[in-house]
Amino acid sequence: MEKLLESIIESNLKYTDDGKVASYIPELSKANPKDLGICVISLDGKQYSAGDYNKKFTLQSITKVVSLIIALLDNGKKNVFSKVGMEPTGDSFNSIVSLEVKTPNKPFNPMINAGAIATTALITGNSVEEKMEKILEFTRKVTENPDINYNEEVYLSEKATGDRNRALAYFMKSNKLIDGDVEEILDLYFRQCSLEGTCVDIAKIAAMLANDGILPWSGERIISREVSRIVKTIMVTCGMYDESGEVAVHIGIPAKSGVGGGIMAAVPRRIGIGVYGPSLDEKGNSVAGMRVLTDLSDELDLSIF
Ligand code: DON
Repeated sequence: MEKLLESIIESNLKYTDDGKVASYIPELSKANPKDLGICVISLDGKQYSAGDYNKKFTLQSITKVVSLIIALLDNGKKNVFSKVGMEPTGDSFNSIVSLEVKTPNKPFNPMINAGAIATTALITGNSVEEKMEKILEFTRKVTENPDINYNEEVYLSEKATGDRNRALAYFMKSNKLIDGDVEEILDLYFRQCSLEGTCVDIAKIAAMLANDGILPWSGERIISREVSRIVKTIMVTCGMYDESGEVAVHIGIPAKSGVGGGIMAAVPRRIGIGVYGPSLDEKGNSVAGMRVLTDLSDELDLSIF
């Protein structure tokens, strides 16, 4: 397996030249566009990796999966999906247009920014710190990594430049889709996006999802089979933004990307995968990372379809 991963990384390195590192959050532009790494975790707990699998990056939109899970645990399916839909959108991840002009009059799904701001707003707790601690605790437990934290510089950088997210959030408040202090909700959203980890960390979250909510290495149940199923389904239809259909055809694995360059992919009942390559295409997905996933899916026949 390790040999296969090494050869896939090697043969796809050239595609890192085809994209650009995200720069709309100034701190993200410091990443090395040539980085490319992968970690695969099997459901008997074995770990295989290659390339820059140990480099830290901010998980960004990959954390939308975590906030959806916690919102579901805190509020139940019915309440969560009364505030956010479960339909894919052909619009970009930070699009504002559908909030007003399309039906339903709520964010289309929890994987776009508006939807994730709405799920973040549903996380219960007495303060931003307490809610963030909940997100951190959950992630530390699933990744078995007590050092998981958010990157202060990236958080502050996004907070200083996140006016489009501010616009989305205030618009949703005016439509009663979110309650409470908008700046506090955004503060939690920006911190959560800045959560830092490696390919190994996201492969572990993916392995838990692949294993129907149970940690493969300890047998501990983290979330119900139903929550795990909901999350994976939404990852297939919406996880790669307006490229989700193409990813379903070419890769066929529930996956979630982030503008930090990560892709988390969960192959039901088989493996969890974490990929990192910060050079992005115009939709915000890792260019070489998607090539790596395509080759791995072809080699191991991973498509769920
Ligand atoms: O809200 C934002 O713009 C970022 N913190 C997260 C966006 C993101 O990762 C979209 N990904 N492809």
